[in-house]
Amino acid sequence: MGDTTPVARRGAALLVRGGRVIDSTGERRADVLVRDGRVAAVEASIEPPDGARVLDAAGCVVAPGLVDLHTHLRQPGFEQAETIETGARGAALGGFTTVVAMPNTEPAIDRAAVVREVLELAVSAMCEVRPAGAITKGRRGEELAPLAEMAALGVRLFTDDGRGVQDPRLMRRALEYASALRVTLAQHCEDERLAAGGHMHEGEWSSRLGLPGVPAEAEELMVARDIALARLTGGRVHLQHLSTAGSVALVRAAKAEPKDGHRGVAVTAEVTPHHLSLTDAAVASYDPLFKVNPPLRTPGDVDAVRTGLADGTIDAVATDHAPHAQEDKERTFDQAPPGMLGLETALAVVLTDVDLPIERALAALSWQPARIAGLDAGPVVEGRVADLCVIDPAAVWLVEAHRMASRSRNTPFAGRKLTGRVRHTIFRGEAVVVDAEAQR
Ligand code: DOR
Repeated sequence: MGDTTPVARRGAALLVRGGRVIDSTGERRADVLVRDGRVAAVEASIEPPDGARVLDAAGCVVAPGLVDLHTHLRQPGFEQAETIETGARGAALGGFTTVVAMPNTEPAIDRAAVVREVLELAVSAMCEVRPAGAITKGRRGEELAPLAEMAALGVRLFTDDGRGVQDPRLMRRALEYASALRVTLAQHCEDERLAAGGHMHEGEWSSRLGLPGVPAEAEELMVARDIALARLTGGRVHLQHLSTAGSVALVRAAKAEPKDGHRGVAVTAEVTPHHLSLTDAAVASYDPLFKVNPPLRTPGDVDAVRTGLADGTIDAVATDHAPHAQEDKERTFDQAPPGMLGLETALAVVLTDVDLPIERALAALSWQPARIAGLDAGPVVEGRVADLCVIDPAAVWLVEAHRMASRSRNTPFAGRKLTGRVRHTIFRGEAVVVDAEAQR
């Protein structure tokens, strides 16, 4: 996909100087020269060409731009919470150069016309926006959406996110169809009948707080079912926002299945920064900032998703960036919609709260999700489209909700000091973030 990406942005060359390049091939000390939207040279030391802008990367890591498999940009339909422009600006500040936009918009992204609308709205965005298509018409879970016409426009990931596909027969058919189209189905794993009425994780805290809970099994039933359906059909399933120890165990077992000369079960999985860092104890504040679906779980679940990420059971960290307008998030806990901002804090939360070498964190936030989304997952080499991020792993910063680029303010990390910050982001050769400030 990378080589077909338009890289029309021109202007002065950029030299990213003094950093440590980390990508899927490993690590080296190198300067990176960017010209006409592409990486022009990667060498131990490059003198700035005449007129080049120099971006200081001393003490920093230079990596392929981050890729978010799970962003709610809310447009069309919910522009009071976010727009493609504001969400993409937040993404750039968070080091993302590509985001996959979820289809739970109004109208839903469930046909070619809406895919086209999103692509047009995203033309001047500060990162690449790849729409995910809905699996079923209107995300109603009744009838398959026209996947082929969306795939013809480049859609590679389909999901009814916000809802899981409840009917196993329909999911089976969707997987057969997806397999023929060579696209991936991403599943919001939630058995709606078992989850019905719940507002937080079902456990000790829900009993204490008197709030109805969602049992871990509501997620795990669908994880188990979709692994079985992936095995049955040969289709590729990507399991979204896994949150429980049981889900991690199911995926680990599926990935360990003998391959019998075949490809094995084609399953990948993601976890969010908030499920890697927060527990259901946070709900004791009754603050709807901590309401999210799937809900925050127990410390044991947090340990399990961290272990799953570290051992490769979980392939990607995905934000589930879910902006909600202030008046909605200020309702009572049971009335407020679920969801948290994620784009601007994702990398820093992972670097601060998860004990993972930075190259593993970057794999989970960049080239592994890129592969799942069918995008360029290649290393930082001459000729690559210049989608890069420059990270200062030692920078300590304070999360301030009112300073975020998002139209919404619902970050559960407000007031926290995080370690690790995106210093610069380069999108198609343009420095869209410099010294942690958006450039447009
Ligand atoms: O917390 C969530 N918010 N989970 C979802 O699955 C949907 C999302 C949203 O769209 O707000």
